[in-house]
This record gives sequence, C-alpha cells and structure tokens, in this order.
Amino acid sequence: MSPARTILITGANRGIGFSILQALATRSPSDCYLLGCRKAEDGEAAISQFRNLGITAEIHVVVLDVSNESSIKAAEQIIRTTYQNLDVMINNAGIALLEAPDHSNIPEIYAATFQTNVTGVALMMSTFLPLLKATSTDPRIINVSSARGSLYLASSGKLPPSTTRSYCVSKAALNMLTVEYARAEPEVKICAAEPGSCKTAFNGFRGQKDPLDGAKVVVELALADKRKYVGGFWGMNTEDKEAQEVPW
Ligand SMILES: NC(=O)c1ccc[n+]([C@@H]2O[C@H](COP(=O)([O-])OP(=O)(O)OC[C@H]3O[C@@H](n4cnc5c(N)ncnc54)[C@H](OP(=O)(O)O)[C@@H]3O)[C@@H](O)[C@H]2O)c1
Repeated sequence: MSPARTILITGANRGIGFSILQALATRSPSDCYLLGCRKAEDGEAAISQFRNLGITAEIHVVVLDVSNESSIKAAEQIIRTTYQNLDVMINNAGIALLEAPDHSNIPEIYAATFQTNVTGVALMMSTFLPLLKATSTDPRIINVSSARGSLYLASSGKLPPSTTRSYCVSKAALNMLTVEYARAEPEVKICAAEPGSCKTAFNGFRGQKDPLDGAKVVVELALADKRKYVGGFWGMNTEDKEAQEVPW
C-alpha cells in the first residue's frame, strides 16, 4: 500500500470541490485531506456532511481565500508547520460573473474574475511549489479549468457563444498558466481538468452532470500512476474509464 498523502482542495466546502473531496476520500480513505475554504464555519459544516455520508478519512479545514495573497501565505505556513507535507494541490475555487447589459461593470468583473481564477492560481502554485517539491515523492497540481477555456472548442463552434466572456477568458489564461508551469517544473505533475457542466450553485444548478461525475476526472488525475497523464488538459464523461484529452 502506498503511504498516506496530504491533499489540499480549494473551494471544497461546496459544489465540485466538495464532490472531489468526497470521491477522493471514498476511494483513498488513508490519505489526509485539507479542505480549503474562505470561512472556517463553512468548512466545519462540510465536514459534518462528509461524516453523515460515511466518510471516515482525516479531514482538516484550512482557511484559504485564493483572491488574497496574505491568506494564501498564511495557509502555506499553517500547512507547513501543522501537517509538514503536501502531495497534491487541487486548485478548484473559481468564480464566474455576469456582464451588465450596458457593459458598465467590465473593469470590475474582469479584475475580480482574474484575481480568483488566474492570479489566485498563480499565487497558489508559486507559494506551494517549494513545499510540494520538498515533501512529496510524487507532487501533483491539478487546476480545475473548463471547456469554456478551450480556444479550439470556442473557435470551431463546438460550443455555443458564452454568456460569461470574462470567465472563458480567465479559463483560457488558466490553461496557459498550467502549460507554462508544467514546462518550468518538470518534476511536478501539473495539469488542467475539465469537469463538464455540473449542477452547482455556479450555474443555478442548471448543469447536466451530478458534481460527483464532474469530480471523476480530478480523482483520476490525482490517483493514477505517476507516469500517466503527464501535463495536458483532461476531461471524463460519465461512462469513461480513463481521462480523455481536451483540446486546448
Ligand atoms: N459547475 C460547472 O458546470 C463547471 C463547469 C466547468 C468548470 N467548473 C469549475 O469548477 C470549479 C468549481 O465550480 P463549482 O461549480 O463547484 O462552483 P460553486 O458551486 O460556485 O463553488 C465554488 C467554490 O469556490 C469557492 N470560492 C470562490 N471564490 C473563492 C476564493 N476567492 N477563495 C477560495 N474559495 C473560493 C466557493 O467558496 P464560498 O462558499 O466561500 O463562496 C465555493 O466553495 C470552478 O473553478 C469552476 O470554474 C465548473
């Protein structure tokens, strides 16, 4: 049996992040899970839900607002001193904001969306990479992206035009961030994941998949043999047994 790993998931108090933790902790209960969330009480409430679902794995709340550099640095210090290691970092937290009909909020929504979806992930990677590299024999980073960030799927018309352009632009930027970090850090497995359209608060619960199905690809990337899925952008349909490459 492989030794227990420490796995951090941002935005894990609800939505796809909650389902990623639920599915990982079910498949790999000997690992230690760090539940990243903005409010400690939301994290504690999520842990109660996991216990009600029969999840027995070790789970700890880590207060972490990815749009705030001080919060990221403080979380890294806590993880470094309290848990002493980190093996997998799942950058799941993300937002999408609607453009006003008169376009008056463009500066605000692009700034806020990029702060969380792009700058936040860049800060998470730069802050946590030293700990991942120093303490894990198989360090991994999984950035939760979206098909909406695929230039190919948008430009080929395979996806309909989006109602949240700033979100699509931020996920395309996140994809490039993933590619650049993966090139710069070859000893760390860094990849992007596309969960697919899931029923979460993010889209008013109008997505197509159960969030547990959306979590499947992240679970596969987190648990697969280290030689599998090196870099890349990955998705998984409900019936798939393995992750499938998504075009950038
Ligand atoms: N749902 C979909 O159909 C879909 C499709 C493709 C990709 N995705 C991606 O999947 C990820 C999760 O989406 P979701 O559907 O689960 O969304 P969600 O239900 O709205 O949940 C978002 C989570 O992110 C957290 N969060 C937001 N801003 C944060 C910040 N600054 N710092 C830390 N946590 C923050 C939220 O925390 P609070 O509870 O504190 O707000 C919440 O836990 C996102 O990256 C999204 O882009 C979703």
